[in-house]
Amino acid sequence: MKKNKFYITTPIYYVNAKPHIGHAYTTVAADVLARWNKQQGKKSFLLTGTDDHGLKIQKKAEEIKKDPQQFVDEIAEEFKSLWKKLNINYDNFIRTTDEKHKAAVQKVLQLLYDKGVIYKGTYEGLYCVGCEQFKNKSDLVDGKCPDHNTKPEILKEESYLLKMKEIQPQLIEKIKTDEFKIAPKKRKNEVLSFLENNKLKDISISRKNISWGIPLPFDEKHTTYVWVDAFLNYLTGIGWGGAPSLSSGHLPLKEGERNHLNFWPPDVQLIGKDILRVHATIWPAILIHLGIELPKQIFVHGHILSGGKKMSKTLGNVIGIDEMLEKFGTDGTRYLLISAGTFGEDIDITIERMVEKYNADLANGLGNLVSRVIKLSDGCDLKIKSEYDPIQWNKFFVESIRLDKSVERIFYQLVRKSNRHIEESKPWELVKTDEKKFKEVMEELAQDLYLISELLIPFMPETAEKIKKALKTKKLDKVLFERIK
Ligand code: MSP
Repeated sequence: MKKNKFYITTPIYYVNAKPHIGHAYTTVAADVLARWNKQQGKKSFLLTGTDDHGLKIQKKAEEIKKDPQQFVDEIAEEFKSLWKKLNINYDNFIRTTDEKHKAAVQKVLQLLYDKGVIYKGTYEGLYCVGCEQFKNKSDLVDGKCPDHNTKPEILKEESYLLKMKEIQPQLIEKIKTDEFKIAPKKRKNEVLSFLENNKLKDISISRKNISWGIPLPFDEKHTTYVWVDAFLNYLTGIGWGGAPSLSSGHLPLKEGERNHLNFWPPDVQLIGKDILRVHATIWPAILIHLGIELPKQIFVHGHILSGGKKMSKTLGNVIGIDEMLEKFGTDGTRYLLISAGTFGEDIDITIERMVEKYNADLANGLGNLVSRVIKLSDGCDLKIKSEYDPIQWNKFFVESIRLDKSVERIFYQLVRKSNRHIEESKPWELVKTDEKKFKEVMEELAQDLYLISELLIPFMPETAEKIKKALKTKKLDKVLFERIK
């Protein structure tokens, strides 16, 4: 199983507001990677879900006078419904308010407390509610959190702390050697420079005055710090119940239920750049203390900007994911998100540019190619053979998680090339003047179209399916199909 599996996670999303384009970006990318691995015959598990607890959510629910549980239940449904519209084929949707998750978190905390890894103390620091994180002075710009543009609160309270100092040298070593890989390289270097220049402080893992959280089993006046609660989703989401050993620690199962612990460790954890620091410190610290293998890779993507600026209601530059879905459909939206810019860097989008790209690449590019090839091949007896194995053709780019590059190659190298081939060879004339040449051209085109449909499966699953169907009705899929399987 170990080699033939692929476990991928998205962050679990805060449910203080409806899902937006940034959430869609990560989740579509994760779905592409899961589908790619499945296509190669691997067992794949895609975990996503919602981060239901914390001060930010408690405050929002209070503001709108809703019971927090009812509030988070409603927003979680919005996430599920968006994932349906985007054709996200997740294997589990974890919620941190699930009873099983809560019980597992309490079990882990008790375990770490009994081991002496968690101890009682006081914590003093600057807390940004938007990030739900303590900040160092050096993280602030003009005294404000650069991500939320707000002044953090000064906080001093009794708290339980998780020991960090003793794991720091191991952590640095594991990141350096890529045993715990952080990609792209630039992000790895950022984390290493932070870890090499700062002594990690023990981390506060509990909050005293926040009721919307999981109570500590050994001191019910405290609730679990929301990030600790959230990180454990990556384990509970595949069925871990919080016992000391991963293999024996599954949740109680009902008859017929299975756990998925043999998917551990995650092969890829996709996150945005704003949550790298916590994923590279608190998360591995918990695992090291528990003696559980670290994830193989954390891949960090950039943020989506709109017209060069951070999207904000005040600036009026928010591009809604529903607006995209309405204009471009499911596969159009998936395509435009993934191809919008280098996966790993900040990317800038505008509706105007997306409309242009949609028309050029999808309507005129791919749409035209499919309809011309299918129409022209009407009634011909064509034999197609494969020159390329689709998996090999795109392997390098997908596996190094250059998703934008891999989809760009399909469109720029194959779709464009085939459309040019049609225009230059004019098969509609050849059919009257040179039947042999006509057949040759059509066989090449059908072959490339089949390759395109295979390559598009992870990115645009419905479109890929439609092309395959069309080819099948013309009996153009057979030879190639047999070769691939
Ligand atoms: N709940 C935490 C994650 C806990 S994971 C153990 C959280 N949630 S979040 O909803 O605020 O953000 C989730 C993800 O969305 C992050 O990876 C973040 O980078 C991403 N994005 C939020 N806004 C974004 C853009 N504008 N563009 C791209 N991704 C962005 O953090």
